Amino acid sequence: MKSASAAPVDGGKQFVRVVSVREHFPGLKTFVFRADGERTKALAPQRAGNYIAITAKVGESRVTRAYTLASSPKEAEEGVYISTVKKAGILSGYLVDEVKEGDVLEISRPDGRFVYDAERDCAHIVGVAGGAGITSMLSMAKAAAEGSEPYSMTLFFCVQHAYEFLFRDVLDGLKGDKVQVIYVVEHDAPDWAESGVFTKELLHKYVKEKSTLFACGGDALYGHIARELSGDGMVANMKFSANSVTDREDAEGRTFTLTVHMADRTLDIPMRASETVMTATERAGLAALSQCRVGECGFCRSVVKRGEFAVDAAHDRRTREDAENGIIHPCCTYPESDMEIFVPSDPAAEVL
Ligand code: FES
Repeated sequence: MKSASAAPVDGGKQFVRVVSVREHFPGLKTFVFRADGERTKALAPQRAGNYIAITAKVGESRVTRAYTLASSPKEAEEGVYISTVKKAGILSGYLVDEVKEGDVLEISRPDGRFVYDAERDCAHIVGVAGGAGITSMLSMAKAAAEGSEPYSMTLFFCVQHAYEFLFRDVLDGLKGDKVQVIYVVEHDAPDWAESGVFTKELLHKYVKEKSTLFACGGDALYGHIARELSGDGMVANMKFSANSVTDREDAEGRTFTLTVHMADRTLDIPMRASETVMTATERAGLAALSQCRVGECGFCRSVVKRGEFAVDAAHDRRTREDAENGIIHPCCTYPESDMEIFVPSDPAAEVL
């Protein structure tokens, strides 16, 4: 297993201004960001498929969540990031309901493992996007069309109803030698879309060369793809975008005490068994460092002094050495008892 990347000393922060907000339908908005020109003069480079982490103070909590970028490497180079936010949690709700043009946000540099690797992947890639999972696929399709990534791409954009096809005007503009876009809709398919769901037959109808498959859209879609393409020789390898870590069931409603050592402070805070250790620190208003929120980046890497915990197996990216030495990624770790931990603080917190 690859070891997690170390956090840069400055936390990799950038400050961006919202230059436009587009509402697709209630609860779903696309934001365009530029460098604020004061603390950040120029945006950091972006790869197709990257995410940014947005951090904001919401009520008493300082909250960080990761959002995939729909912008391309060329658009980032030209000074623009684009991200679509679906209202689903505390920070997404704040962004969709409160943030407007002109506001300045604190974000991370683009990062993430859901990117093309020329040594690992085929020269042709198949993208399968479910609903709002189109954002990272749009970034990858733009990169193919503009030539900032070396692959060609066939993109299957799968939804239940045709009104869910976001960015259709942009996607249609990308079609050409490098990009093929297939719209797939379950109900009432218009004549420009395939009717039904993504299948092996649909793949073979449009793709004639060995390919790497990238999918973004949730566990149900990933399970369907894995079953559908089991034993199929057309797909050489598959890469699924990591899903968010969610609260877990805890019918007993247990609560523990978390003793947190951060910088030169030590605090006791309440922690629910159903939430991740990271969520507990956020709820308490602590500026603990985090970025990807899915166990990948290692920014939140913390040392457990005492206590029992459970790591979400689907998101456990720790090295074996870290796991054996009581190191956790609080973003994907749930408490099983009172705990005492040493956590890294966010160096950008003081400037807010
Ligand atoms: S925030 Fe990335 S590993 Fe926890």
